[in-house]
Amino acid sequence: MNTEAEIREIFSHMRDLLTAYREMGLGPPPVPADALCVSRGPEPKPVRPAPPRAGETMDRTAALECAALLEALRDRIGDCQRCKLCQGRTHLVFGEGSPEARMVFVGEGPGHDEDMAGRPFVGESGKLLTRIIENGMGLTRKDVYICNVVKCHPPKNRDPETDEIETCIPFLKEQLAIIGPEVICCLGRVAGQALLGTDFKISAERGKWRSYQGIPLMPTFHPAYLLRNPSAKRLVWEDIKKIMTRLGLEVKPHG
Ligand code: URA
Ligand code: URA
Repeated sequence: MNTEAEIREIFSHMRDLLTAYREMGLGPPPVPADALCVSRGPEPKPVRPAPPRAGETMDRTAALECAALLEALRDRIGDCQRCKLCQGRTHLVFGEGSPEARMVFVGEGPGHDEDMAGRPFVGESGKLLTRIIENGMGLTRKDVYICNVVKCHPPKNRDPETDEIETCIPFLKEQLAIIGPEVICCLGRVAGQALLGTDFKISAERGKWRSYQGIPLMPTFHPAYLLRNPSAKRLVWEDIKKIMTRLGLEVKPHG
């Protein structure tokens, strides 16, 4: 187990290593998988460097720190047996994308395709989400971070149950604390209710800024809903444009 002070010391060594590598004209050294060993202590405390000021990109060292912290969190989740969803899963789907993403998409939980792949949003809904990110926002999946409220596939695609959400949501909170995005985009009713409370109504409340853990949050429809109701894409585009404006991204006219 490493204390917070020890983790900071490890990062300080990493910084020195980076400087040495740079001076030798080499690329950054690989981050050893076992660089951090965080215990299953009582309340996990993410150690996060100060967020960059607006318009300033995080430096490489800070990005490495966030990547290492996400990796340590993934290790701590381990071969999770904390709730009954573990019984039916093939792969735990932690999430993926940039550890320094300015924007995080949060879905409800992995579907069958995601369970098989161990990656979020790779099935039909995922393809639509990817088109929103690429064609709509002009970004790539690597620029953002994509994850879910529960990390394991609920059997037969049922909604995750309250106890499953309560067990898993601390990990989402930690991911958000480590990444420190400027905006969360919450996809669909189930994720909305998990993050904002069971009174949340997706049709009435999408498109309106909320906040979660002090981070501005935009709720919008789930891509699976858009596949069944293509006319709602127009509304999602309105919501995405609000996010882009907030991030200072150029909004191009869209069909
Ligand atoms: N639906 C979700 O909510 N999350 C995924 O990862 C895939 C489909
Ligand atoms: N119902 C849902 O669960 N999600 C949506 O996005 C819309 C309706």
